[in-house]
Amino acid sequence: MRKHLTIGLVVVFALLVVGCAAPTPAPQPTAIKPAATTAPQPTATRPAATAAPTAAPTTAAAPKLSGDLVRGGVLYDTWWEVIEAKAPTGDQPLWKTQTTNTRKGEITWRCKECHGWDYKGKDGAYGSGSHKTGFVGIAGAKTKPAADVLASLKGKPNADHDFSKFLKEQDLIDLTVFITEGQIDTATMVNADKSSKGGDAVAGKSQYGKVCTDCHGPNGNAINFGTIAAPEVIGILAADNPWEFIHKVRVGQPGWPMPSGITNNWKAQDYVNVLAYAQTLSKTPGSSEGGPLYDAWWKVTGAEAPKTDQVLWKTQTTNTRTGPDTWRCKECHGWDYKGKDGAYGSGSHKTGFTGVLKSATLSADDLTAWLTGKKNKDHDFSANLDAAQVKALVTFVQKEIKDTAAYINADKSVKGDAEKGKTTFRATCAACHGSDGKKINFGDDKTPEYVGTLAADNPWEFFHKVLSGQPGEPMPSGFAMGWTLEDIANLAAYARTLPIK
Ligand code: HEC
Ligand code: HEC
Ligand code: HEC
Ligand code: HEC
Repeated sequence: MRKHLTIGLVVVFALLVVGCAAPTPAPQPTAIKPAATTAPQPTATRPAATAAPTAAPTTAAAPKLSGDLVRGGVLYDTWWEVIEAKAPTGDQPLWKTQTTNTRKGEITWRCKECHGWDYKGKDGAYGSGSHKTGFVGIAGAKTKPAADVLASLKGKPNADHDFSKFLKEQDLIDLTVFITEGQIDTATMVNADKSSKGGDAVAGKSQYGKVCTDCHGPNGNAINFGTIAAPEVIGILAADNPWEFIHKVRVGQPGWPMPSGITNNWKAQDYVNVLAYAQTLSKTPGSSEGGPLYDAWWKVTGAEAPKTDQVLWKTQTTNTRTGPDTWRCKECHGWDYKGKDGAYGSGSHKTGFTGVLKSATLSADDLTAWLTGKKNKDHDFSANLDAAQVKALVTFVQKEIKDTAAYINADKSVKGDAEKGKTTFRATCAACHGSDGKKINFGDDKTPEYVGTLAADNPWEFFHKVLSGQPGEPMPSGFAMGWTLEDIANLAAYARTLPIK
């Protein structure tokens, strides 16, 4: 399962976007946001944790609530990922009052599933199709007193609409502020045929290049939000669901440091421009997606890790690992793809098994035969991988395994320009890994492992993961970024200067 990074980097990102160097993370303001999206304060000058002036209360009896409307918008999407809780089990109690939307379980607890990405419920995009519930939107609540909206989230008048068992008062207030102050009328941005209303794709391209490319890649396909068989990339989502696109670009993505357009003071026209451009982007992932399968395929397929040893494992004795590790392609064939002729030719990973670097010349049929046990019945992964996944691995072996020897020295140092790597690291990696690479620990508290640790210990693995991505995590693929081996070497050279513990 994916880990989530609920970190306040959107603000840092905002500062970087306007050209102000802010290398250390600033806390995200949680108490108070600018009163309305139409009158934002300039981001560059807004002190991170200082209260913005609030507008006068709408009525003397009901003082304005102080909440973070951007956070409220992300809560509206998948609230449990924002508060880092487990998703509720079973269906939301109101779910049984409709029959048309046949989804079950946690999805029935998402505000958006009942009220829509366009906030219009039955009067909008969810008025028909598989998401149809017949439930009202939240658009009408925009003009209601905030106290009434807040009450509705606490089960008044409808006790089955009580979210206070799961969400804290401030969470409910943030949601309320989003509903009363943060909602937009999506009809002003999206046409009935889902195209953008008056968007300028050329202007959108430049905006996209400034804010989105560093994570989603120049073609919008560096992160696949779907699966290998049913991929979802920016170009697909923007065309299929422009309302979701606009919602997420305005507030960000739950659990990930994706910048918020509201925080970055985007104007309405910026969203339609980026939507217009995003609808022209590629509809296919920018890499084979076989690389993460070569690493630990069950983290991609969602299967349980195998408990027994892979059948071929007993034909060697030098590598004493057992269980899941013995099923990883990399454990037998190496991060350098050279098996016994490479880094795994000695040491605790030594198996004596062949590499796959030269297998790139095999035909797709032959490679498929290898992976489905037709060349050697003990090398059969057909019970573990579906046809699309086998195909992804075949393409990976044919096109994406690279000989990194020219960039990695015998002592594991790399031939790269750390200064150049620093620029890329700051632009793409720092949002998730932190500018010192220590925000995500792949090890544990006792033996921490950071980007710096891995770059120092295992440059081959570093090359593999930065090019292919991390199994089960939305880490961008370097292939989709258009990076060359030299670019990765530069990144590795910089990563090797980062703290290792
Ligand atoms: C299972 C479906 C469902 C989910 C999930 C759901 N709602 Fe509702 N919501 C409803 C229904 C149905 C109503 C109106 C009926 C009622 O209150 O009796 C409603 C009413 C509302 C209203 C009042 C609308 C008005 O015009 O007065 C608001 C505001 C609201 N919901 C916000 C939210 C928020 C925020 C969330 C997420 C925390 C959420 N809802 C989750 C079904 C849902
Ligand atoms: C710091 C990295 C980062 C930046 C910058 C970024 N995103 Fe994202 N974006 C992500 C991540 C991570 C996800 C989550 C993918 C997942 O959960 O599988 C995501 C998800 C999305 C989704 C939702 C996909 C879905 O179906 O849930 C959209 C749409 C999107 N991004 C658009 C954009 C646009 C447009 C920009 C520029 C305005 C942008 N992003 C900038 C990291 C980023
Ligand atoms: C337990 C160790 C092990 C695992 C795990 C493993 N392989 Fe192999 N693989 C081998 C061995 C041993 C051979 C050679 C077998 C033979 O000659 O009959 C081989 C052969 C191959 C070949 C053919 C090599 C050639 O050029 O003739 C390819 C391609 C290959 N494996 C890819 C993969 C991929 C992709 C995965 C992950 C899905 C994988 N292997 C997992 C041990 C393993
Ligand atoms: C959208 C967030 C995101 C971005 C951007 C990102 N990563 Fe990652 N990265 C992750 C996550 C999540 C993991 C998995 C952490 C875990 O398994 O505990 C990871 C894992 C890794 C690993 C593997 C660690 C291991 O031992 O398994 C490396 C190396 C790495 N990232 C390097 C980079 C580099 C270099 C960049 C920039 C080019 C980058 N990442 C960009 C989220 C991201």
